Amino acid sequence: MAESKTGSTEVSAAADTYPKKILEYIEGFLISKTLFTSCELGVFDVLLGSERPLSAEEISKAVGASLDGTERLLAACTGLQLLIRHQDNGQVSYSNAEQAKLYLTRSSPLSLYQSINYHSRTIYLCWHYLTDAVRDGRNQYEKAFGVSSGDLFEAIYRSDEEMVKFMQLMNSIWNICGKDVVTAFDLSPFKAICDLGGCSGALAKHCTSAYPECTVTIFDLPKVVHMSREHFVKEDDQRISFHEGDFFKDSLPEADLYILARILHDWTDERCIELLLRIYKACKPGGAVLLVEALLNEDGSGPLTAQLYSLNMLVQTEGRERTDVQYAALLTAAGFTNIRHCLTGKIYDAVLGHKG
Ligand SMILES: C[S@@+](CC[C@H](N)C(=O)[O-])C[C@H]1O[C@@H](n2cnc3c(N)ncnc32)[C@H](O)[C@@H]1O
Repeated sequence: MAESKTGSTEVSAAADTYPKKILEYIEGFLISKTLFTSCELGVFDVLLGSERPLSAEEISKAVGASLDGTERLLAACTGLQLLIRHQDNGQVSYSNAEQAKLYLTRSSPLSLYQSINYHSRTIYLCWHYLTDAVRDGRNQYEKAFGVSSGDLFEAIYRSDEEMVKFMQLMNSIWNICGKDVVTAFDLSPFKAICDLGGCSGALAKHCTSAYPECTVTIFDLPKVVHMSREHFVKEDDQRISFHEGDFFKDSLPEADLYILARILHDWTDERCIELLLRIYKACKPGGAVLLVEALLNEDGSGPLTAQLYSLNMLVQTEGRERTDVQYAALLTAAGFTNIRHCLTGKIYDAVLGHKG
């Protein structure tokens, strides 16, 4: 507050003259990068492994970084409420806040570490070209990574290392949303489930734990299936099997329920209908298809996460995020009926369509 010449009190930074939100948006990427760097250096893992709070010097030594840089990083993490700062007899030390312990350490069952890693190393680089993507109306793999995106998943899987990182990204979000999407509808009537583009098998595992009588076939490209077998799905899981193939070209295994989780958002409407027609043909009578996607509101007014994901689809894929009505139109075009959707309240929602 300030005293004006007339003696009246004025608000020195009134809401309409101080653009708080705009300033936050300008700086949003600074926050993301602070989080990415702290995870990449292993700050939260080092603190998890310690029985007591650690000083900046101890942390800097453990992560192999400069003391000055580490001190500033720790201060910013404290401001972001990811770390707790302790002061005892003039000695400053740090420990993980509960959220950091749960979601930012590598070993936590709820870890988002791999998702953060992919955002930092791949998505962040693609978003450097967002302006070009909006202008051109297409993804920016050529500019970002020097690879052609003629075959989308050849570009995404441009090396084995990139493929594993992508699979870890896919895997990690289901740590926190997987149960919600497989239980959004009662899927217990469907005994033979085929997860098309099932990737790391995270949703297959959620299905077998939620529905004790089902079996799940993970259908994916051969090299993804090999990687999934080797790194993600245990051999002794008798209820999960694999099928290698291209879902646009090869015959699909017969099933009662097909899951398409984050598949249709990769593709144009034409390709989505092409895939859904193939599924309709393979699906047993009385069977169904479950779409798992981040649904946009009917009028496009939100949620912000789905709106931003749709931009991400522009930068990275051939697809987009859609409303439940748009998904219903795709399903109807392929012959599915009795279409319902369920909002889970988390990032990903579910749409179920039946083969009459
Ligand atoms: C965006 S990821 C979704 C992965 C998984 N459903 C999930 O939500 O975690 C797309 C998946 O589709 C697979 N895929 C892409 N094109 C495919 C094709 N032509 N045939 C079979 N699988 C394909 C990819 O390998 C990848 O596993």
